[in-house]
Amino acid sequence: MYFQQFYLGCLSHASYVIGAGGIAAVIDPQRDVGIYIEDAVKHGLRIAHVIETHLHADFISGHQELASMTGAAIYLGARAGATFPHVPVRDGDEIRFGNCILRFLETPGHTLESISILVTDTERSPEPYAVLTGDTLFIGDVGRPDLAPNHTPQQLAGMLYESLQTKLLTLADEVEVYPAHGAGSLCGRQMSAERSSTIGQQRTSNFALQAKSKEEFVQLLTAELPERPGYFALDAELNRSGPTPLADLPIPDALLAKDVLALQQEGVLVLDTRPSGQFGGAHIPGAIHIALAGQFASWAGRIIGLDHQLVLVAEDRDAMLEARTRLARVGLENVAGYLDDGMTAWFREGLPVEQVPQLTVQDLRREIANIQVVDVRQPGEWQQGHIAEAVFKPLPKLTESLDGLDREQPVAVHCKSGYRSSIASSLLKREGFKNVMNVIGGYDAWKACDFPVVEATSITVA
Ligand SMILES: [Fe+2]
Repeated sequence: MYFQQFYLGCLSHASYVIGAGGIAAVIDPQRDVGIYIEDAVKHGLRIAHVIETHLHADFISGHQELASMTGAAIYLGARAGATFPHVPVRDGDEIRFGNCILRFLETPGHTLESISILVTDTERSPEPYAVLTGDTLFIGDVGRPDLAPNHTPQQLAGMLYESLQTKLLTLADEVEVYPAHGAGSLCGRQMSAERSSTIGQQRTSNFALQAKSKEEFVQLLTAELPERPGYFALDAELNRSGPTPLADLPIPDALLAKDVLALQQEGVLVLDTRPSGQFGGAHIPGAIHIALAGQFASWAGRIIGLDHQLVLVAEDRDAMLEARTRLARVGLENVAGYLDDGMTAWFREGLPVEQVPQLTVQDLRREIANIQVVDVRQPGEWQQGHIAEAVFKPLPKLTESLDGLDREQPVAVHCKSGYRSSIASSLLKREGFKNVMNVIGGYDAWKACDFPVVEATSITVA
């Protein structure tokens, strides 16, 4: 039997190909599905089954495009209410191909329609050796219970407790666990960096499974729920109704600098995807900066939402195409074009630029009495330690809470390493802050220099 995990770091997302007897099943495909088709061809497999463990909220799935390209059937939990042709599955339903048996378990909680999939290789054993847990059970965490529209987080957490206790935790300790997300995903809170585990390891080490009762579990899961990005509900709905095939989305137009300026004046957003240093050096006034690295797509969805038309500024055309694919993976499809020849074209026209000076932590320390310092990390990071002079304004809510900051005075923004703070710097520039600086290397660099910090404190959002 063939089993392969595909991990997409940009979205902390894991998908799977399972093959046997010349047939393959793809579980939770990402939107650009070429990798599965190539993989199946390479291993002499025909993709006949596409399975969604639930209607994903954090990305647009490639289930329909993959099914239309291969003729595969789509399988989804019966409670999904999906409007495209699919096989609704219930507890105990099975798919068999070659020596592989995939048996479905309904495991509601993260969402109502969530399913897990037991994987049996009959050559190896008549018992399942692995379980694909979707967003029901992660490595080190469980799925967040606040994404389904018609149920309270408490109701969903209660269902999740039952799913875990009566289904997944009844499996043998050696059964391998393969989730749909890893560390950094917004579908949970404390996911480990590991990509797989076993039921036995999770039984003893997963924080959410240590609760002694259903009440304690519900309390644990519903206290201090993380931010729920606005695009989540839209993505889930697109996945329910069936997204546009990626191949049908237009390629962005190459635009002259004056065309970009004209579009921007009509309300189109300029998204600059170059590295922080380049953005800081010179950028189009009003541009939002999200570097094409790290969790680019997830931040784009959270900061921009799905409503805006975009023009891209990229290092080159390849980077622009990569950005466009990553944006489409979360449902940001409306890309009008890109600045042909990048900032060189902008300079050629003599158009105005703005800058975000890149500040070292040594400079920050020296000047700290004269600068407003903004820490845009997450509450848990702030709580573990922060710079005494900093005000805490987590990036997802930054522009909603600018009280206490003076737009006329210099402001230095930092995060852990400099990625999120560059996004934040661009947002502050758009909000009219005159002198915004990005701290290179962020809190990690500050700590590495042994500069003073305040450790382990309670959370107060300024
Ligand atoms: Fe999810």
